[in-house]
Amino acid sequence: MNPGNGKNQSALLLRGGTVIDGTGAQRFVADVRIEGERIVAVGTNLAEEGTHVLDATGKIVAPGFIDVHTHDDQVVLSAPQMLPKISQGVTTVVIGNCGISLAPLVHSNVPPPLNLLGGPDKYVYPTMAAYVTAVDAARPAVNVAALVGHSTLRIATMDDPYRPATPAEQTRMCELLREGMAAGATGFSSGVFYPTGAAADIDELALFAGITGDAGGVYTTHIRQEMDKVLDSLDEAFDTARRGKVPVVISHHKCAGPRNWGRTVETLAHIDAARTQQPIALDMYPYIAGSTVLRKEAVDGIIDIMVTWSTPHPETAGRMLAAIAAEWGCSQQEACERLQPGGACYFQMREDDVQRVLQYPATMIGSDGLPHDQHPHPRLWGTFPRVLGHYSRDLGLFSLETAVHKMSGLSARQFRLEDRGDIRVGAFADITVFDPMAIKDAATFERPKAQALGVDCVLVNGAIAYRAGAVAPVRNGRFLRRPRN
Ligand code: ZN
Ligand code: CU
Repeated sequence: MNPGNGKNQSALLLRGGTVIDGTGAQRFVADVRIEGERIVAVGTNLAEEGTHVLDATGKIVAPGFIDVHTHDDQVVLSAPQMLPKISQGVTTVVIGNCGISLAPLVHSNVPPPLNLLGGPDKYVYPTMAAYVTAVDAARPAVNVAALVGHSTLRIATMDDPYRPATPAEQTRMCELLREGMAAGATGFSSGVFYPTGAAADIDELALFAGITGDAGGVYTTHIRQEMDKVLDSLDEAFDTARRGKVPVVISHHKCAGPRNWGRTVETLAHIDAARTQQPIALDMYPYIAGSTVLRKEAVDGIIDIMVTWSTPHPETAGRMLAAIAAEWGCSQQEACERLQPGGACYFQMREDDVQRVLQYPATMIGSDGLPHDQHPHPRLWGTFPRVLGHYSRDLGLFSLETAVHKMSGLSARQFRLEDRGDIRVGAFADITVFDPMAIKDAATFERPKAQALGVDCVLVNGAIAYRAGAVAPVRNGRFLRRPRN
């Protein structure tokens, strides 16, 4: 690497790499020149004069990856280096999924699943604007786009979130959501699967979907049920979005539980039909296990369950619930009770379903990683390299161009992240350089906190953010405001 002549400190030249531009188009060999925070030229034999040259020969030069499904609301503030994400080539995270957002809410003891964001006492931002200020002050290594969470709105306005909201409470929630959208939020998320959101009917959801649609945002949803009632739950999401005139993203699409294995054939056909009527996209993580808080309802004695954290029993993190129950001489249900509050991985999907949803054209990649878990699901550290390495290169499920598109261009378009997600002149220089032969996830269920292999260099807003396995000392991420209509 040449240090450059210092004339133009902020000009960078990625020389001789193979560009996969994020649109799904075929790769091509080209130099990429960056000035300030944007790409200013893409072509062959670009002049090196006055630039800091990074040799990318034999490497893929791709748009920085967009993690469309995260629970990184709090970790971007408390651990702004964002090593689990930047080491995968992720340059933007969408926070606030599944109805859970850190703002707008001030609360010292939130119920599950809101405690996923680092504990029950992390909620200190009364408005989205206050949260945006905090993100700008923390200056994380990655960009942040925010969703306003439905359960967060309910906890903020209701004494008891487990019942239907009154009209007055809904009015107050609408005000908070409008404030969030005005502060630049990208959209609204719901998680009516969870008890904190479940008492809301479709009328309540459509109200918020409408506000989101009016503001030009997107609606993401962890649907009511991903098991036997998955089709009805999809229909509820589609109806809600149609009533709100808003594009919808079905979160972490799956058919869970052995009785439903194989049914993604059905759900994808159903989604396909609905897509002729309205804009619908999906996100997913590339694993057969899900992960969330410990839920007694999910303990069926059939699927394997691994504990990821437990406040009363931290020593059980990483162990199987069945083994813990055997050791304690009690049922798994009883063990689950004694471990509360806690989290778990649920081995509730089948590989053919995972592959079918991954291949679906409207599916984007989202990790759903849980950064505060003691022994987290490996998706936190491994999602993106696993799609590129294991699923694209090793299994040949789709081309590398398609894999990159599902984590950049497609995602930026769905979430309206302006001038992000592709390599072209004028776009922000969020760029990931990786070795297509070496890219590989290293995180496993046994050893989940392992840095991915094969990511050489990551740029965020034109500055080097990660290189040679380490986060750069200067962080350059920012809050991404939704563009005006
Ligand atoms: Zn979810
Ligand atoms: Cu989630």
